[in-house]
Formats: sequence, C-alpha cells, structure tokens
Amino acid sequence: MLGGFARLFHLQVRRLLFYLDPLMEADAPMERFRNAGQGHVFQYFCDLQEEEKKTLLLQAEEIDLEEVSRLSIAFRARDSMDLDFSGLKPAPYIPHPASGGDEEPWVEARALGEEALRAGRVAAFTVAGGQGTRLGFDGPKGTFPATPVMGKSLFQVFAEKIFASGARFGGQIQWLIMTSVQNDKETRQFFETSNYFGLEKEQVHFFTQGLMPAVDGNGKILMSGRGRIAMNPDGHGGSLRALVRSGNVERLRSLGVDTISYFQVDNPLVQCIDPGFIGFHLGEGADISSKMVPKAHAHEKVGHFCVKNGRQVVVEYSDLPGELQEKINPRSGELLYIAGSIAIHILSLDFAARVGGGAEEGLALPFHFAHKKVPCIDEAGNPVQPMEPNGVKFEMFIFDSLPLAGKSVIIETRREDEFSPIKNAQGEDSAETSKRDQSSQFLRWLASVGENVSGLETVEVSPVFAQTGEEFAARWRGMDTKPSLQEGIYFG
Ligand code: UD1
Repeated sequence: MLGGFARLFHLQVRRLLFYLDPLMEADAPMERFRNAGQGHVFQYFCDLQEEEKKTLLLQAEEIDLEEVSRLSIAFRARDSMDLDFSGLKPAPYIPHPASGGDEEPWVEARALGEEALRAGRVAAFTVAGGQGTRLGFDGPKGTFPATPVMGKSLFQVFAEKIFASGARFGGQIQWLIMTSVQNDKETRQFFETSNYFGLEKEQVHFFTQGLMPAVDGNGKILMSGRGRIAMNPDGHGGSLRALVRSGNVERLRSLGVDTISYFQVDNPLVQCIDPGFIGFHLGEGADISSKMVPKAHAHEKVGHFCVKNGRQVVVEYSDLPGELQEKINPRSGELLYIAGSIAIHILSLDFAARVGGGAEEGLALPFHFAHKKVPCIDEAGNPVQPMEPNGVKFEMFIFDSLPLAGKSVIIETRREDEFSPIKNAQGEDSAETSKRDQSSQFLRWLASVGENVSGLETVEVSPVFAQTGEEFAARWRGMDTKPSLQEGIYFG
C-alpha cells in the first residue's frame, strides 16, 4: 500500500519538476515519440532556442500517442466506408403545449426544476472555445455585441440571465465557461474589465479545453513550425474531459451541484436556466436531456435527433443524406426528421464526470475527423500553406454522449423564444437575424400586455428586468408609470 503511495508521490513530483523545467526530462518524451513512429516531431530540437524547446516539450507532454495512433488507423479505415443509416428513425420528443402538447407535465416539470434551483443543485455551463471563423470576428465570440439596442455582448446577456435566475431562486448560480488556449486570456480579461457583469467573481469558473494534434494522411503528426506541433481544440465534446481535468467536477460537488445546464456561446435567446427543462430531466432521472425545435426547412444546418439501434443519436446536417433530410412523414405531412438540435442540454454531473473521466469501458466520446488545410512545415523544415486539405483534425461532439446515456429526454421548445444563433457574418443565423428575433420576442411580450407595438421594430428588455413573457407581464403590471413606447426603447 505504502509502496503504491510512494510510487504515486514520486510520479507527481516528477511531473511537477517536468512542468517547472521540461528540459530536465527531455529524453523520455523524445523516446516516446520515436517509439511511436513520430520521431520527426523532435527533428529540429537541437536547433531550437531554450524557450522553444520547453514549449515543444510541454506540447508533446499533452499528447496521448496511443490515442493518436488509434484515431489515425480509424480515420484511414473510415475513409473507405459509407455511414450506415439503416434502421434510422426519428427520435420521439415531448411536444410543447403551444404545439398541442399536454400542459400538465410542463407545469409539474417546472415545479420540480424550481425546487432544484432553490436547493442550489444547478450550475450553468457555456462552451466558448470555438474560433468563430464563420463570423469573421476578431476576438472571443462571447465578446461579440449581440443585442438590438444596447449592443451587449453575448457573455453579458448570459451573465444577466444567470444573475436574474440566481436572484429569483435565492442563490448564487455557479457558471462554468470553457475557453480554448487561443481565447482564454482575452475572455478572462473581458470579464475582469466588465466587473463580471454584476456576478461575483467566485461564481464564474473558466477553464480551457484540451488540444489534439493534427495528422497527415499517414497518421504523422503535423508540425506548424520547427518547434511547434499543429494542435487544435478537441471540440465541444472535449468540455466533459476538461470539466473533469480542471477539477470543476469536485468543486461543483462540494457546492451541492448535481445538474448542469449546458449551452453554446452563440445563441443570445437561450434560456440559460430553464426550470421546466431541468424538471423534465430530473423527473425522468435522465443522464442527459436535450431541446429540439422543428426544423425551419429540410436543409437547415442543425443536427437531427434520431434513434439508431434503440439509442438516441444526433446526426449532423453534413452527414444525413439529402433524401432523408427531405423525407416527409406521410401521417403528419411534415418533415420526417423534424427534430433539430439547438445544442442545449441538461446533464447530470455524475454522467458528465463518467464520460469525461474516460476510465469506463464503452463510455468515452468518439472522435470525428475533419479534413482541413493545416499550415505546416515540410520535411526540409520549410513552411507550407496548403491549397487543398492536407491534414486531419480530431474533434469530439457533446451530442455523442446521447447514445451513452441510460436515460435521455428530448423536449420541444419554441424557436422564437429560444433559438437565434449568431454564426455567420451575413444572411441566415447572423447578428442581423438574431437582433431581429430578439426584438420580436420583446415586442410579443409588449403586445401580450395589451400594448400597441405597431411601427416598432427595435426594442430590448434586459434579462434582469424579465426573462420570460410571464415575468415581463408581472413587471409591467407592477410599474406605476408606464413608459411611452418608442423605437429603440430599453427596459433595464
Ligand atoms: C452546432 C451543432 C449542431 C447544432 C447547432 C445549433 C456541431 C458539430 N454541430 O453546429 O448539431 O444543430 O450547433 O446551433 O456542434 N466549441 C468549443 N470548442 C470547440 C468547438 C466548438 O467550445 O472545439 C463551441 C463553440 O464556441 C460554440 C459551439 O461549440 O459555442 C458550437 O460550435 P460550432 O462549430 O459553431 O457548431 P455549429 O456548426 O454551429
């Protein structure tokens, strides 16, 4: 027993020493890479400056060479295979009352969710590690000005929603934000300079997602420079690994949290904390739950909730063949694969920890392969800007945890109330369409309290004022003097 402990202690000390000065332990990683057929990674090691050597050694330390080798083999095998869609079925979901669903379960779920929130069992979780390349915005996407009147950033919108939910349910809701090495520093600085948008610094927890090396068609790790491995974020599915590795699972447990409300950084309409959704999840004893919206059209770029071999799965728009995307359900006359994923989930903390921990057989997220142009160096060490995809990037997706779950629930939500992401610089899913949809929601709230909103297009309601139509109506009724409505009005 003591021997085991001593060995563990020795290992930890060696690891610490390595991080303090990687050059002290340079031989072991080099040998590890040589043995794995990846010796070229250290080809120019002797020519590097001391700092460059350290950087390379630290990068190398993060790489699980067995995993890379396994993935490279799988990638080559997969290239010659078609995806198998036999036996695929649309996934069932709980319809929203506005689409004819039974009202009662929604009322019960909400009560259950509110109870969990009052007990402090729920934390919010934003994945914000993406690059936002499509948006063409230079900076972390969460800092993008998103609201129609005040131009509040996406992060501010979420912060205010989390603050308002905390105030409503009488507690401080913990907020986890996953960044990437590329945007972590800027993201933290943004929160610092904005005073955490009224939240307590202690309730916001940043951590970076993991990285994976890019490889060429033969499984050789690509180098972006003589002393630098071409590394990429490991996808939003990496959030579960990162949650575990960052120590946040333990932190949440110690605070009494057992449920996580997960959402992407790009959607200002998301209900960060939705009592009804939480209640459905808890009521079913689910491992992971999801929200769907009926797809806007056959080729909308969202994942599809399906069932395969008796398990829930999400099939990406890029994977589902066109004829299946267009297929009509003869009974309803609607699209057969109608359930679009808007990437909003509730996860039980235990399930997230088990999947992220990676120790259990059959409970790890698979990697997806993306052919990309990866700037690199050639064998002679000269820089190459590829014109065609030359590399493979490995990414995990959060929705691949659905088939791993014991129980999993999907509920319908209303697109106009919950989904208008900012993904593109122009056109569909852009800042313009999202601002329009945010204003439309606020205008609906005003109309529902009997106000005449004709002629108004751009209005904004702070989440601190109201997060739902019901909350807005209550606030409105409580106002002694009502403001006169005009274009650009802001309820703060
Ligand atoms: C995603 C989903 C799609 C869903 C749609 C809804 C995938 C592959 N597809 O599409 O099923 O219908 O959203 O809007 O996810 N992120 C990280 N780290 C990464 C990569 C991404 O944190 O390594 C974060 C991004 O910051 C963003 C989110 O994950 O918040 C989504 O990433 P993105 O690549 O934009 O997904 P979409 O293609 O828009």
